[in-house]
Amino acid sequence: MVIGYVEVLRDVTDLKSVTDELRRANAELKKLDQLKTDFMNIASHELRTPLTSIRGFTEFVADGMLGDLNGGQKEALSRVISNSDRLLRLIANMLDISKIRSGKLELKITELDLSHLIKETVTEMELLAQAKNISCIVDIPDGIVVAGDYDRIEQVFANLLSNAIKFTLEGGSVSVTATEQVDRDYVMILVSDTGLGIAPDDLEHIFEEFWQVEKGKGTGLGLMITADIVREHGGAIWATSEVGSGSTFWVKLPRGGAGVME
Ligand SMILES: Nc1ncnc2c1ncn2[C@@H]1O[C@H](COP(=O)(O)OP(=O)(O)O)[C@@H](O)[C@H]1O
Ligand SMILES: [Mg+2]
Repeated sequence: MVIGYVEVLRDVTDLKSVTDELRRANAELKKLDQLKTDFMNIASHELRTPLTSIRGFTEFVADGMLGDLNGGQKEALSRVISNSDRLLRLIANMLDISKIRSGKLELKITELDLSHLIKETVTEMELLAQAKNISCIVDIPDGIVVAGDYDRIEQVFANLLSNAIKFTLEGGSVSVTATEQVDRDYVMILVSDTGLGIAPDDLEHIFEEFWQVEKGKGTGLGLMITADIVREHGGAIWATSEVGSGSTFWVKLPRGGAGVME
């Protein structure tokens, strides 16, 4: 009896020390996460202002406002501009993430005409697609209404479309469709491509920050922001893919008030 009692007491003591340890580790992690968010915030703001100025003045000179330039000078300045753009995109992504993480992403929810929004987004991406001879097909029935923040939902589809175009070879195709499947509360939108595809081992990581199958020109932040925005809307996103034949990103978004526009 007495021995059993001691045993139990020790177990409880062990459990308590493990709990304490976990609590400490958890607090430490939270502090680190906060530090990361603060860092992203400060870095983004401190970087963006001077970089915007660098880009502005470079463009001013590149446009010949301070005198004519020779070919080599123009070429050099256009590189400064395109690299500034790349950095500005990275900073914008980091700002988005810190906003989302700190719960400061404010959504202005209105009723969005899905077909209209997707067509606008595809039009913006068309130049990218044309450069690779990729055809873009949109098949969204008229009258579907989504409850969402216009700019943020557009950002979701711009990210998915730019990926679809980026990871599809010349001559391929990209499509955006909405399933006919009837659900009172949600709309399902599919962004598909005939591109490189994603291996199963990679598929489970693609929504993580900085994850890229191949370190390339992007930042590896697009899908994470995309997923965060969708989740903030009460929706869901996932991907299916087959290496060599293409990928499909499934986006589930809440319907707007009446569901379907009359
Ligand atoms: N449509 C797609 N086809 C193939 N791979 C994709 C596709 N979309 C995303 N990926 C993979 O997921 C990674 C993460 O995507 P993302 O977060 O948008 O980062 P980025 O576009 O900056 O590389 C990409 O680098 C790529 O490896
Ligand atoms: Mg991307």
